[in-house]
Formats: sequence, C-alpha cells, structure tokens
Amino acid sequence: MNNHLDKDDTTSSVSSTWIGTANHGFAVYAVEELRRLFPSLKFSYIVPSEIVQFTIGLPQEEVLQLLHANEPMFLRHLHPVHVEIERTEEVEAEAELAAICSHLEDLSGIHSGAKIAIQARKSEGSNFNYSPSEIKKALDAVLIDQYRAEAVVRDADQIISVFVMADSIYMGISRPTDNLSDWSGGAIRFRKEDGQISRAKFKLLEAEYAFGLDFTQYRHAIDLGAAPGGWTSLLLERGLHVTAIDPGALDSSIIRHKRLTFYRRNAANVKLDDNNYDLLVCDMSWNPKQTGKLLKDLLYALQSGGTIILTVKLMHKKPFQTIKELLRELEPELSLQHAKQLFHNREELTLFLIKN
Ligand SMILES: C[S@@+](CC[C@H](N)C(=O)[O-])C[C@H]1O[C@@H](n2cnc3c(N)ncnc32)[C@H](O)[C@@H]1O
Repeated sequence: MNNHLDKDDTTSSVSSTWIGTANHGFAVYAVEELRRLFPSLKFSYIVPSEIVQFTIGLPQEEVLQLLHANEPMFLRHLHPVHVEIERTEEVEAEAELAAICSHLEDLSGIHSGAKIAIQARKSEGSNFNYSPSEIKKALDAVLIDQYRAEAVVRDADQIISVFVMADSIYMGISRPTDNLSDWSGGAIRFRKEDGQISRAKFKLLEAEYAFGLDFTQYRHAIDLGAAPGGWTSLLLERGLHVTAIDPGALDSSIIRHKRLTFYRRNAANVKLDDNNYDLLVCDMSWNPKQTGKLLKDLLYALQSGGTIILTVKLMHKKPFQTIKELLRELEPELSLQHAKQLFHNREELTLFLIKN
C-alpha cells in the first residue's frame, strides 16, 4: 500500500483534492457550479451522478474561502483528501484497517484532547470485508490512545473522513464547517417519530438546521400547501400559531389544535390579515412560476423582515434557469439568504428568503 499524496502537497501547495457529494442525479449541477467558481477544476465521478472527486489549482484554504462566499446549491458536502492509500486485492481486512490507522500520522493538525469524529464511507461494490463502523472503531482506539483525543459522533472539533473505494482509500481532516455539513456525506438523519404525519416534515426540520433558524423565535406562520400537515405539526410543536392552507385534508391528529387555523381551499382564494405573520412556509410541489405568483400575491400578510421557506420543484431538469426566473419574480420584494438542495429534497431545492 502506498501513500500517494504527500500531506504538504495537499494542504499548502498550489492544488487541493476533494471528494464532493450531491443528491443522486444532481452531481452534474454541483460540478457545473464548482467549475464556474474554479475554472481549473478537474473531476471524475466516484459514484455516478452523486459523488465526485475533484482537484482545484488552489490551496485548501483559498478553496474554502471561495466556497463559503459562494456556496453551491447542489454540493451537499465535501471533504479534503490528504492521503490516498492504494489498495491491493490480497490484503486482509485486519492489515488494511491497520494501514488506515497508520496513516493518521500523515494528517496534520490533529489536536491533542480534541473532539474528533470519524466519518467513514465506502463506494458500492468496493470489495472489502469490513464495515465503515469497524473503520471508526479502529481509528477511535488509536486517537484515544495515541492522541488523547475524545472520539465523538456529533459536535466535533475536527472530522476525519475516510472513503473506501475499489482501488483506493482516501483520507482527510477538516473542521465541520468546512465540509458544508457536519453529517457524513451531508446525509442528515432524523428519527421517524411514532405517528409522524409525513416524511415532508424532515424537509422543514433540515431547513431549520441548515439555515441556522430557530422556529421557536417566531410567533405566527402561514403554511401554504399544508396537507397532510407535517410542516404544520412541526411549527405547532415549536409553539407557533399556524394558519394552514390546502384544498386537501389535514391529519386528524392536528386538526383540532388550539393554535391552528385551517382554510381548506386553494391559496389563491384566501384573504389573510395584513402584516400579521412573521413566517411563511410553502411546500406546494407545484409549477415554480405559479407558486411564485401565488406567493407574491400573499406577501401583504407577512411583516417586513419576515422569513420565507420555500421548496421549489425543479422542472425539466433546468434547475439554474428555474431558480433564476423565480428569483427575478420575487426579488424586488424578497431577498435571498440561502438556496440549497437539502438531503431530504428530491426533485426540488429549498429557498430561504426575507421580506424587505
Ligand atoms: C408536498 S404536499 C405538502 C406536504 C406538507 N408540507 C406536509 O408536510 O405534510 C403539497 C400540497 O400542496 C397542496 N397545494 C398545491 N397547490 C395548492 C394551492 N394552489 N393552494 C393550496 N395548496 C396547494 C396540495 O394539495 C398538497 O397537499
């Protein structure tokens, strides 16, 4: 097994190597965004249309600065590659785990006493007979023993990423914020609750987390396209008054909630109180143009400075154009804060906007 990448080559020289992840089918758009930002980008797919390895002719810190200032919508997660270990077929699992552990010393900047999370992944079909959790277990033991580190899963100071492929293993160390998401591969998991009304609830939970919001700080929300009620139920749990609008039925578990007002009709046919709401969420899963128009017509109800969370259906596989057209419609009255395809978005992405 060889260590191909010299650590000084990757962390401080003129180029840096990364592994980036997008939702399945959307890596092509993540690459397009990266290429606009970094014309020197060279890339190859590790998992078709989902995971991509790329090299940029800039050092790591410069790449991160540019990425944070212009965060791509479709790049869910990335981590740097500081070590590449070549795999040979004959090697036993135990020897390979030992090799991975021995390469910890090639990762610069592991702080003594730091909280470190190991995030191990493997590409499908890579032929190896140990699991990502065994990689974590082996590395945790060395980190605790030799580096006096604290092995954690969440709230880490540093993340060590290990990606096992058929012929190589990639390792890198980074701060959680540098990975765009502190979840392995950006795959944020929420526990499904008993009686949860819809999986759509996860989208709003993820938006709250990803955009750094705290819904308990809001008072009165409008939920457009509310049925069966996953988003409404989350906002009720956060203590808000909710005005839900949908021609479809809300789940019986929330319909009699004392902080809920429900208009069972098309959102085009409701009259709301002026300036009365500080949050508007919309998950109508409808043509973005029509959604944008409908939303605009209801903006009188939202206070200035109010927050909007909107899922946008990506039509005809032309996401950039779809978003551009929608923003052209909305931006005189609203300011875009963040646009991101969240892990729980399917053929859509989520916008966070503020009313001017
Ligand atoms: C994806 S579902 C919403 C799921 C919901 N966020 C949840 O967590 O349960 C989309 C909803 O939008 C509603 N919808 C579509 N067009 C609408 C309109 N013009 N006015 C109100 N609701 C609409 C549909 O009836 C449907 O119930």
